[in-house]
Amino acid sequence: MKENSVTIPRWFDRHLHIRDGEMMKTVLPSTLNQRATGAIIMPNLADPISTIEKAKAYRDRITALLDGSDFVPCMTLYLTDHIDPEEVVRGFEEGVWRAVKLYMANQKGHGGTTGSAHGVKNLLGRYPVFEAMEKHKIPLLGHFEAVEEDVDEFDREIVSVDRDLKPILKSFPGLPVVFEHLTDGRAADFVAEVDHDIHATVTAHHLMINRNAMFWGGMNPSNYCKPVPKRETHRAKVRQYVTSGNRRFGAGTDSAPHDESVKSRCYGCAAGIFTSPTAVELYTMTFDEDNALEHLGPFLSENFLALYGMEVSSETMMIERGTLVVPQKVGGVQVFKGGAEIPWKLVG
Ligand code: NCD
Ligand code: ZN
Repeated sequence: MKENSVTIPRWFDRHLHIRDGEMMKTVLPSTLNQRATGAIIMPNLADPISTIEKAKAYRDRITALLDGSDFVPCMTLYLTDHIDPEEVVRGFEEGVWRAVKLYMANQKGHGGTTGSAHGVKNLLGRYPVFEAMEKHKIPLLGHFEAVEEDVDEFDREIVSVDRDLKPILKSFPGLPVVFEHLTDGRAADFVAEVDHDIHATVTAHHLMINRNAMFWGGMNPSNYCKPVPKRETHRAKVRQYVTSGNRRFGAGTDSAPHDESVKSRCYGCAAGIFTSPTAVELYTMTFDEDNALEHLGPFLSENFLALYGMEVSSETMMIERGTLVVPQKVGGVQVFKGGAEIPWKLVG
C-alpha cells in the first residue's frame, strides 16, 4: 500500500546559500515557503563572513527580511588562514555562529568552488583552531575536495578524505564534523563506518542525478555544481545510505543560486544548483521511489539537529501525492528540473 501523504516534523536545511542584497530578497522566500524551521547559512559571500562583526551584520540583514517568520538563520564562520582560535570560540560562545565552515584554496589562491578563494591554504596551520573547536565542541563543516589543478575532477572528494579529513579526525578525536554535500560512495562508506562524531549532508540533486546529467544532449550548466555529480555507482551508494535510514546522513540542500548570466556563459560557468523552491518535494520523491518514506522524517527533520543547537520541531508539515510543476525560474535564477513534474506537493 502506497501512502498518499506523509506528515513529518518541519524540516531544517543543514546547508544553504542565500547570498546577499537583491539576490537574497529573491531566493530567501523559496526556503521560507518550504516550511523550514531554519537553515545553516553558508558564509561564502563575495566578502566572506570571516569575523564576528561580519556575521552579526549578515544575520541582521537576513532577519530584516524575515517579516515575522520564525525561520532561524544559523550563521557559520568562513574559516581563513588568519582568524585566531580565540575569536572562533568567542563567536560561538556569544551565539553569533553555530559552526565553522572549511573551504580550502590552493597555493595560487584558487578554491575549488564558488567563493572559496579566501579559504584555508595551510590546513596544518589551522590545527590550533581545530584544537579549540574540539575543546568547545564547535562543529566543523567541511567542503572536502582536493583543490590542486592536477587532481582528477571526479576524485577530488576521495583524495581529500584520505589526505585532509583522516588526519583531522585522528588528531582531534572529539571534534564534531559534518562532511558537506557528500557525493562519493567511498566517502559515504567512510562516514558511515568511522568511529567518530561525524555526519554528512546530502543534497537532493546528488541523490537524483549522476554525471551524465551534465553532458547528456549537450552541456548542461544547470546540472553543474561542486562537488560535481559522480558516476552512477557512487550516486546509488550514497542514496542507499540515505534512504535506508542511516542516521549519520541528513538533508542539506546546498541550494546555490546564480544568475542565469553566470550559469550559461561558455567559459567559467558558475558552480551551483538552485533547488530551494521544491527541495522537500525532491527529497520526498527520492524516498518514495525507494519505498522508504518512513525514513524521510528523520533525514529531513531530525538527524543530528542537536549538533547545530536545533531541536526537532514540534510542528508538522504535510506532503501529499499530486502533481507539482517545478518553476523554470525564480527571478533570474534557473531552478533545478525547471518545467518537470514532481509527484509530490508540500501542502502545509
Ligand atoms: C556553492 C555556491 O555557489 O556558493 N556552489 C556549489 O556548486 N555547491 C558553493 C559550494 O557549496 O561548493
Ligand atoms: Zn554549498
